[in-house]
Amino acid sequence: MAVEERDPVSGQKTTGHEWNGIKELDTAVPLGVLIFIVVTHLWALVWWILMPTWPLITTHTRGILNTDQRKIVEQDLVAAQAQRAAWMKAIETGTFEEIQANEDLMKVVRSTGHQLFGDNCAACHGADGKGRANYPDLTDDDWLWGGGPEKIAETLRLGINSRHQNTRVAQMPAFGRDAMLDRTQVTNVATYVQSLSNPAASTPQNVAQIQAGREVFLTTCAACHGEDGKGNREVGAPNLTDQFWVYGGDLQTLINTIHGGRQGHMPTWDERLTPAEIKILSLYVNSLGVEKP
Ligand code: HEC
Ligand code: HEC
Repeated sequence: MAVEERDPVSGQKTTGHEWNGIKELDTAVPLGVLIFIVVTHLWALVWWILMPTWPLITTHTRGILNTDQRKIVEQDLVAAQAQRAAWMKAIETGTFEEIQANEDLMKVVRSTGHQLFGDNCAACHGADGKGRANYPDLTDDDWLWGGGPEKIAETLRLGINSRHQNTRVAQMPAFGRDAMLDRTQVTNVATYVQSLSNPAASTPQNVAQIQAGREVFLTTCAACHGEDGKGNREVGAPNLTDQFWVYGGDLQTLINTIHGGRQGHMPTWDERLTPAEIKILSLYVNSLGVEKP
């Protein structure tokens, strides 16, 4: 039995225990801690009475408020499904114009479309739809195959150079590799194409080259890209006079494109997505270009 002992410095009683020469003062539990313990115990008691708490053998105490989280979740789910069914039907049956005019439906389009885009399209076009080298930017409102939800829906259904029997076909021939143009002609026409969107690329030194390139362009390229180079959405030939490039507008990339050709591939979404999902994505992609979020 420890003898009652006082700490010589503070004059407090000690507990009498000793650990390696260290002794503990025998002080009361601080009032704040005591109040905390009492209040939390009372709170627990009240909670046991009000809420479901103690497990019994086959059931549990239900509490006088009779709340049931599982039931609440079930009710929420039913409500959410009913709401989803309502807007799904509106999207399935509405025309693009009707949906676009309905701000509530467009909110659904933006959130559901964003999710569908992330799941199916972001791998190629980027999470923000801005594309990257070899994959077009979908937010620039500059279209290879035409903007607006109808055209975009068609692109999604058919795909581009895809397995779909009516696929959109994008064939930029390999003029150099297939020996339709010689090396000089390829360089000349690339220089001409570069000058279309970049006035700084035309200098007094290369006027003759650009002129020769223009001749090649008019005989060889204009059938698809147009005499003015502004492209043709019927064949997916890009506008070559603007700042938007799928592959790149610098001279070396232009030479590579004209030498080796380009055939972009985009899968058909006809079987993978429902018609309603294609509709939502078309409106969503269209909004990326038009609304500039
Ligand atoms: C495997 C890669 C890949 C995936 C996945 C993909 N795309 Fe594409 N997409 C492309 C390529 C490549 C092109 C350009 C093809 C060409 O050369 O014309 C393209 C073109 C498009 C175009 C036409 C752009 C224009 O300027 O006319 C749209 C619209 C489009 N994609 C939307 C989508 C949507 C929506 C999805 C998701 C459902 C998607 N893409 C998934 C590769 C892909
Ligand atoms: C048969 C039609 C056709 C002809 C002829 C044609 N093109 Fe193209 N061109 C296309 C198509 C389609 C694409 C898009 C290919 C893709 O992305 O799948 C394209 C893409 C390009 C691009 C890439 C643009 C970018 O955004 O990066 C350049 C540059 C280009 N063509 C230049 C030329 C030049 C120069 C000629 C003539 C020597 C030419 N094309 C002749 C159909 C054609």
